[in-house]
Amino acid sequence: MKVAVLGAAGGIGQALALLLKNRLPAGSELSLYDIAPVTPGVAADLSHIPTDVKVTGFCGEDPSPALVGADVVLISAGVARKPGMDRSDLFNINAGIVKNLVEKCAASCPKALIGIITNPVNTTVAIAAEVLKKAGVYDKRRLFGVTTLDVIRGETFVAAAKGLNVDKVRVNVIGGHSGVTILPLLSQVEGASFTAEEVAAMTKRIQNAGTEVVEAKAGGGSATLSMGQAACRFGLSLIKGLQGEANVIECAYVEGNGEHATFFAQPVLLGKNGVETVLDYGKLSAFEQEAMDSMLATLKADIQLGVDFVK
Ligand code: NAD
Ligand code: LMR
Repeated sequence: MKVAVLGAAGGIGQALALLLKNRLPAGSELSLYDIAPVTPGVAADLSHIPTDVKVTGFCGEDPSPALVGADVVLISAGVARKPGMDRSDLFNINAGIVKNLVEKCAASCPKALIGIITNPVNTTVAIAAEVLKKAGVYDKRRLFGVTTLDVIRGETFVAAAKGLNVDKVRVNVIGGHSGVTILPLLSQVEGASFTAEEVAAMTKRIQNAGTEVVEAKAGGGSATLSMGQAACRFGLSLIKGLQGEANVIECAYVEGNGEHATFFAQPVLLGKNGVETVLDYGKLSAFEQEAMDSMLATLKADIQLGVDFVK
């Protein structure tokens, strides 16, 4: 398996690359690209870790050499939030970065599974889809917005609040990846029950967790280490699916059946072509149904912004 990380010299990119160097299947290749000149050095640094994963590093304007033959591409290139900013404030810079990088993916690795981490994810995934369509290589099973950080936050916070074993807690998070579009399905968490007040508070905590980190870092960026972990979990799941492992399920922001919006985060079964099946997310509580109904206008507008940007 060859995994390319674009934005590899950044906060997420370096954490993700370190985790992948240690956890990719033996014989894999890890290909790092960033516009920053330090990137070959990041690759040299990682290459001294004794695992059977070959690391290469590329910098400069053209990511193509890093992309040739890639099975999975994870994109975290772009700018991060500072206190007082919303994820949508990143659109002006990150939209163009994602557009350019996905154009290169379309040319160099059109069959790769692409995971978009760069914010605003609700919009950058729509941009990526339009770019791939223009290039004639769009396959909705192969494009993902990475929302795993919302899932691991949900799992961490619920386990801590309810005194559960965090390894056993599973929290599905549906919708999108910003503010009210992040909807954790707490009514479905096995082994945990919540009062109405607890549901409201826990939902808000998960929705605002990104801002919690941005404010704690006080101008030094947003979540990088937990995102590296989340992206590693998601990337390894993509690879397990590609390698034919059964029952690999993750929540991700994908083009599903369009019931709610063109792109929607929901549990998906992963396989040899990326998304094998978009899974039913089950019955919603009244609280969750209301949250879902009221997020859709925001989510659809975020998606349209991406479509219009490319068109
Ligand atoms: P960072 O500033 O630490 O790193 C970004 C990297 O992107 C830098 O190394 C920079 O040189 C590189 N870069 C910029 N333009 C590039 C280009 N055209 N080609 C290649 N590389 C380029 O930022 P970070 O903390 O790693 O965050 C990256 C992105 O991930 C941000 O948009 C952030 O909002 C987003 N993010 C998403 C999630 C999520 O859950 N999906 C979580 C955390 C952060
Ligand atoms: C997160 O959820 O931590 C990321 O989307 C980064 C951010 O800006 O909040």
